[in-house]
Amino acid sequence: MCGIVGYLGPKQAAPVLLDGLTKLEYRGYDSAGVAVLNPDGNIDVVKAKGKLEELKKAVDGGRKLRGNCGIGHTRWATHGEPNEVNAHPHINDEQSIAAVHNGIIENYAELKAKLIRHGYKFYSETDTEVATKLVDYYYKKYGDPLEAISKFSLRVRGSYALAVMFEKYPQTIFAIRKDSPMIIGVADGETFLASDVPAILKYTRNVYYVENLEIARLEKGAVSFYNIDGDEKDKAPVEITWDAASAEKDGYEHFMLKEIHEQPKVVKDTLNSLLHGGEIDFTEIGLTDGELENINGIIIAGCGSAYHVGVVMQYVIEDLARVPVRVELASELRYRNPVTSGELLIVISQSGETADSLAALRAAKERGLKTFAIVNVLGSSIAREADKVIYTKAGPEISVATTKAYSSQLIAGYAFAVKLAKVKKTITDAYYSQLINELFALPEKISSVLENRESIQKFASRTVDKEDVFFLGRGVDYAVSIEGSLKLKEISYIHSEAYAAGELKHGTISLIEKGTLVFGVLTQDMLVEKTVSNLAETQTRGAVVAAVASEGLKLPDDFDRVFRIPETDGHFTASLAVIPLQLFAYYLSVLRGNDVDKPRNLAKSVTVE
Ligand code: AGP
Ligand code: GLU
Repeated sequence: MCGIVGYLGPKQAAPVLLDGLTKLEYRGYDSAGVAVLNPDGNIDVVKAKGKLEELKKAVDGGRKLRGNCGIGHTRWATHGEPNEVNAHPHINDEQSIAAVHNGIIENYAELKAKLIRHGYKFYSETDTEVATKLVDYYYKKYGDPLEAISKFSLRVRGSYALAVMFEKYPQTIFAIRKDSPMIIGVADGETFLASDVPAILKYTRNVYYVENLEIARLEKGAVSFYNIDGDEKDKAPVEITWDAASAEKDGYEHFMLKEIHEQPKVVKDTLNSLLHGGEIDFTEIGLTDGELENINGIIIAGCGSAYHVGVVMQYVIEDLARVPVRVELASELRYRNPVTSGELLIVISQSGETADSLAALRAAKERGLKTFAIVNVLGSSIAREADKVIYTKAGPEISVATTKAYSSQLIAGYAFAVKLAKVKKTITDAYYSQLINELFALPEKISSVLENRESIQKFASRTVDKEDVFFLGRGVDYAVSIEGSLKLKEISYIHSEAYAAGELKHGTISLIEKGTLVFGVLTQDMLVEKTVSNLAETQTRGAVVAAVASEGLKLPDDFDRVFRIPETDGHFTASLAVIPLQLFAYYLSVLRGNDVDKPRNLAKSVTVE
């Protein structure tokens, strides 16, 4: 999720900033930049699209920039294509203020309009330039950086780790955070700011973790903290004991486990990017209510987990919006000669570069179908070639096995389904509001499922020798089963199959023998009784039965293990039921000594056929 750095001290700032950004590369980015206060008291800014190497070349490794106070940024674009203009640092018109930002300013559009009314002009498409000019607006109004940043925090909605330099405060950096990470390190005569510990670990282990809505004032070898009322507050540093490698994962053993735990935040960020004033609003992506009203058929295409999101969406869209949906493996659809009649094609892809999904999109466009994409990477091929795109806000996903991107795609899919149903008037306004409330409650519920990880780890340790695992479910529970099965296969290398529970009797049940592990998913009120019978049928043939089940659901007491998940609307249970299955796969992979983040034979994005 990008990276910010800052430096103040006796050294030339630019090389320290570049070194810090290099240590944050693992967080994923598409462009970068630095700003340094030069000896003449002016702010020099250099930015470059692409890898850090481009920026290092532009500043000759930092030698071209003189000055010992500076800020830097690696950008993971959320608003505005990845290019040099949109890269950070962003500046005010007089280039007397420069800022870097990690996060999303949700109400940037209204703030931009306000600033334009006050005579501001904008050179980029980013929410961060709006943030920078809002700080400038308040600085011009109050004449004080702390006051300006405080007023900024009261006016914006969203997430930010923001570091700001003011020309008139040459040996000072001001910073504030809300939801995006920020740490400050102090050593003898020098002070560092960064998104994460690896960026400063070589210089100091004496670190302050900035809390939400704390303002920091960095000076050489010192930092002071204030609340948003401007009152100074005490804050104790902590001693970092991690080594550099484990620090990159915020102390988690693997990126996958870190990303599993980022799901509450990315689900919230994705949801917030699609709701404005409590309403699902697609106007920013150019999808009008009129266009939604004219949708009379949908084809969803994707690969792997993205396809699995499509399977969930089929159930949810058809049940809520009463629009026919079919889900296709992109690798099949691209070569099929499908019969289409004006459907909307929705392509789902984390990377936006999957060859089969891109080909399916192009084939649909050749047939004259309108196309819509749900993508995580801004400016990726599928995002650029689809007529409309919803960007998930999962940030860069490092682990090959997707978790947080899958969950953020689900949220985008739910929002699309609920909005379509509202426009089609197939749900009441009251139920629409109830669904919106349920969506907002999901992040907290995901967090509560994550708290049970130890019990899932224990169960995994008891099943580490299994060679075959079956996942069963009906409806949305079947859609979760196929994702749980894929997660297990791709990182633990244990053979697994997911089955529509009602289909088991038509052949596969012959594979069940003593000790076979069968994992049931039980969240669909109208269907669980049937699935429970199917699970019992496997038990009579010797299977060990585990289940992920909604709280309150009455189950037989002879299931080997049951993992409970909070109640939610039946359309949204996939977001909760998948969590125990992600953790189950993760712990089994660790127990089997596999390379969890880079499983054998797999690539993060399959850009070839
Ligand atoms: C999921 O864990 C796998 N990494 C894989 O199935 C993935 O979902 C698939 O390759 C699609 O990738 P995309 O979302 O980037 O298009
Ligand atoms: N939302 C900002 C942008 O798109 C910051 C993204 C980031 O965290 O890198 O420029």
